[in-house]
Amino acid sequence: MYVLGIETSCDETGVAIFHSQQGLLSHHLYSQVKTHADYGGVVPELASRDHVKKLIPLISRALSAAGIDKYRVDGIAYTAGPGLIGALLAGAAVARSLAWALGIPSVAVHHMEGHLLAPLLEPDPPEFPFIALLVSGGHTQLVEVEAIGRYKILGESLDDAAGEAFDKTAKMLGLGYPGGPEIGRLADEGLAGRFVFPRPMTDRPGLNFSFSGLKTHTLTTLAATSSTRQDKADIAAAFQEAVVDTLLIKSQRALEETGLVRLVVAGGVSANRRMRKKLHEMGREKGYRIYFPRLEFCGDNGAMIAYAGCQRLLAGHAEPLEIRARPRWPLSDLLPP
Ligand SMILES: Nc1ncnc2c1ncn2[C@@H]1O[C@H](COP(=O)(O)OP(=O)(O)OP(=O)(O)O)[C@@H](O)[C@H]1O
Ligand SMILES: [Mg+2]
Repeated sequence: MYVLGIETSCDETGVAIFHSQQGLLSHHLYSQVKTHADYGGVVPELASRDHVKKLIPLISRALSAAGIDKYRVDGIAYTAGPGLIGALLAGAAVARSLAWALGIPSVAVHHMEGHLLAPLLEPDPPEFPFIALLVSGGHTQLVEVEAIGRYKILGESLDDAAGEAFDKTAKMLGLGYPGGPEIGRLADEGLAGRFVFPRPMTDRPGLNFSFSGLKTHTLTTLAATSSTRQDKADIAAAFQEAVVDTLLIKSQRALEETGLVRLVVAGGVSANRRMRKKLHEMGREKGYRIYFPRLEFCGDNGAMIAYAGCQRLLAGHAEPLEIRARPRWPLSDLLPP
């Protein structure tokens, strides 16, 4: 089965062709980072308009890179939520109407299920069950994953998501958007241990997170220095270490409490090199297997949507003749295919 996957939930237009037996055949991504950079964050209306412009050319490119024409496609998967409503509608409208024109089914994919399943695109995929740590721009969640569609949220952020904390802290340090990669680079120049930030909510039981306090900590620490590049690098290193340690402590706790031995980490923040290193070390030490997507599939992409959609299409799922998008959509609402 050939599946066309379409991702437009935020500021990336992602398109991919996935084949149920042959795997991923092609994928293309257009990032709107430059469009939003001057504003320091995503401007929803600009995002929607850009998706409208980029989608059809990207679909044509993905089809020709996969060596097929549109009449060979058996189903279309698209991100229906959560995300920005206008951006979601751009993808949903193209996906649903193209499927209708071709007389094939289309299926609405949950964006976070896409992230969660992205490591299954790798050559040595994790077996079920596992714990998923979803760390992105809008979410920080620990999920017990029994099978595709069987998700139990064990904990989540009570305020800022991990990626959001990276973005806001980067802004305070005068760095560009998105802040995660910028903080990662600056932290490499930082002196580990000059500043020590708290590991929020790790001193009490439970698996929830809270990252908003780290912003205040960044501000007060910065104000007490002369704000040189070295000061900022030392702060970036301390901030990154605090976020990574907090995510590590809670992930380890989730594994211990459930007795599971596999941890899947996904979402934009899973590209963080310090986190990948520390989690792999923890895994080796404690006997857990840790799985990450390849770097290009940590952030938003069409491949993860094509993959997740393919599993549902194979099980016979199909959308009714309507264009559906859900800006808010709890992951725990999903059912198995
Ligand atoms: N190397 C990195 N280190 C830390 N954070 C990173 C890194 N690379 C990207 N990020 C962060 O990842 C986030 C983007 O991830 P992603 O695209 O998955 O989020 P989103 O799609 O905006 O949100 P969601 O998936 O929750 O809807 C941004 O906050 C960005 O700063
Ligand atoms: Mg995302």
